[in-house]
Amino acid sequence: MDKKSNFLFLLFSIIFTETPAAKGSSRHQFGSTKLFVFGDSYVDTGNSRNPASCSWKEPYGVTFPGKPTGRFSDGRVLTDYIASFSGISSPIAYERRKLVKKSKLQFGMNFACGGTGVFDTLDNGPNMTTQINFFQQQVEQEVYSKCNLNSSVALVSLAGNDYGAFVAKHVDLKDLRAFTSSIINQLAINLERIRGLGVPKIAVTAIEPMGCLPHPAASSSYQNCSETWNLISNFHNQMLQQTVQKLNGESRKSVFAILDLNSAFRSAFKSQDRAGNLKFKHPLKPCCVGVSKDYSCGSVDKTGARKYTICKKPELSFFWDTLHPSQGGWRAVYSVLQSSLQQLY
Ligand SMILES: *[C@@H]1O[C@H](CO)[C@@H](O)[C@H](O)[C@H]1NC(C)=O
Ligand SMILES: *[C@@H]1O[C@H](CO)[C@@H](O)[C@H](O)[C@H]1NC(C)=O
Ligand SMILES: *[C@@H]1O[C@H](CO)[C@@H](O)[C@H](O)[C@H]1NC(C)=O
Repeated sequence: MDKKSNFLFLLFSIIFTETPAAKGSSRHQFGSTKLFVFGDSYVDTGNSRNPASCSWKEPYGVTFPGKPTGRFSDGRVLTDYIASFSGISSPIAYERRKLVKKSKLQFGMNFACGGTGVFDTLDNGPNMTTQINFFQQQVEQEVYSKCNLNSSVALVSLAGNDYGAFVAKHVDLKDLRAFTSSIINQLAINLERIRGLGVPKIAVTAIEPMGCLPHPAASSSYQNCSETWNLISNFHNQMLQQTVQKLNGESRKSVFAILDLNSAFRSAFKSQDRAGNLKFKHPLKPCCVGVSKDYSCGSVDKTGARKYTICKKPELSFFWDTLHPSQGGWRAVYSVLQSSLQQLY
């Protein structure tokens, strides 16, 4: 379905859901695009536990919508941009499904949760297997029927936290390659499972250049990326590429597509404004940081005093905090990804 017919569908569904007679049935009559999301903080739109997660604290959400909404950014995240590309509202966070009107479920559901991975990580949120279990329950409970899923798309974005947990637990990194294999094998099983539940198109992100996140780049005053971490990203992405090719080879249609966050981040770092100047002067430098090592963006002390600083113009920082892009960063990444998003529709 192209963007225009989606837009028409949207108009129709607005009209029909306003009409009492059509209530409840409209969702099944029309097969709109739906987006189902599995992953971590890069795509989470509100599943992380409130209030423990920084994503529910000020100043998260300060740019959009003006208060914290569980997004790990000053505003929108990747999910929101991919939904807008599909011409739909951002899918509702799984944790909020019972708090909203049923009509809000028509754009799909977001199961992603900050801090999680393919395997269990240092965070105790639902791993990818559990996120897919939640999705399966929704299908079994007929919140979404098979024919309902007919024009749906899944977005899968994670694995960074798996590596974070691995490196935190292992002094010796010689087992890293074996670990990458086990992540990719489990990921392949998970992708097939999502397809088996009836989702015909599945986009999986190649991992970002982890060495360019402000956290590892801090040791060079945000000047240089950590090459060790970038090698981990590259190796992961090579294996992912091979595996996705294999998965597509086995199915008649191309079900799986890679969204290359790695090259998108690198191009986005060099984004230019209309006058041809670099948009992000110091791309690895985050906007919001703790005042010292004991604090991070969003920290307050016992008296409630802020223990972080924010840059004046978040839109000029690629990164919002030490791990996550700002809304401006995600917008720049999205503009690089647009051409590869075409293949999903
Ligand atoms: C995911 O989490 C569940 C529930 O905690 C656990 O039983 C399972 O082993 C985990 N799966 C993987 C692949 O780590
Ligand atoms: C959706 O369902 C219709 C009718 O059942 C079928 O013709 C069409 O091929 C399906 N589309 C996809 C993407 O599976
Ligand atoms: C960054 O990398 C360059 C080139 O390798 C090097 O000359 C420079 O000293 C590094 N900067 C810092 C702050 O580490």
